[in-house]
Amino acid sequence: MWGPEGLDEVEAELLGPPEELKGRDVLEIGAGAAQCSRWLAAQGARPVALDISHRQLQHALRIGGTFPLVCADAGALPFADGSFDLACSAYGALPFVADPRQVLREVHRVLRPGGRLVFSVTHPIRWAFPDEPGPEGLSVSGSYFDRTPYVEQDEEGRAVYVEHHRTLGDRVRDVVASGFRLVDLVEPEWPAWNTSEWGGWSPLRGNLIPGTAIFVCVRD
Ligand SMILES: C[S@@+](CC[C@H](N)C(=O)[O-])C[C@H]1O[C@@H](n2cnc3c(N)ncnc32)[C@H](O)[C@@H]1O
Repeated sequence: MWGPEGLDEVEAELLGPPEELKGRDVLEIGAGAAQCSRWLAAQGARPVALDISHRQLQHALRIGGTFPLVCADAGALPFADGSFDLACSAYGALPFVADPRQVLREVHRVLRPGGRLVFSVTHPIRWAFPDEPGPEGLSVSGSYFDRTPYVEQDEEGRAVYVEHHRTLGDRVRDVVASGFRLVDLVEPEWPAWNTSEWGGWSPLRGNLIPGTAIFVCVRD
């Protein structure tokens, strides 16, 4: 699943035709409980699920799967050059790091020539709106161009949650500067069947403004 709209890889085929996934080495970045890797393994691919959170990987272990789980920072991938055919990330790592180019350069390094990276992030336009599912989430409340990160702190003032905003142009430049060719930028439309509200995502907003941006990149 690429985002809250509900676009899944069966429908989107952004990693390529499903029959070509068989036997492919795939790195999932910011895997969380490794839902994507579980699906990839079921297609016959050979996924490796990577996340910086040990806790998330414990959830992945509990749910099960026969692929490796790796606890590491996406900005310092513990793999040799050219280890993977494909890399994917659904809202993993990239929105949460101050230096996304470091992550993209690392993914570029561990992909084989011709390899493909597909990643989804919150659509940058959402930054300008309150993160509310109702009508209040439809009026611009901040600057799209303000790159100050969103930070939540605990009582001791330690950052416990951070999101970094990049404009659409920033993201394109990050991809290109890291050595990738951008071959598609998918903005999934809100489908009629999806009636659920989740956080700031809702049919009301989804029908009017994009919520997810999916970047399809090739390592030439
Ligand atoms: C919003 S969750 C997405 C999880 C999963 N991809 C999914 O679709 O449910 C973001 C994940 O990125 C991980 N993450 C954040 N920063 C990271 C980093 N620097 N390196 C690796 N993983 C990171 C978090 O621990 C979290 O599991």
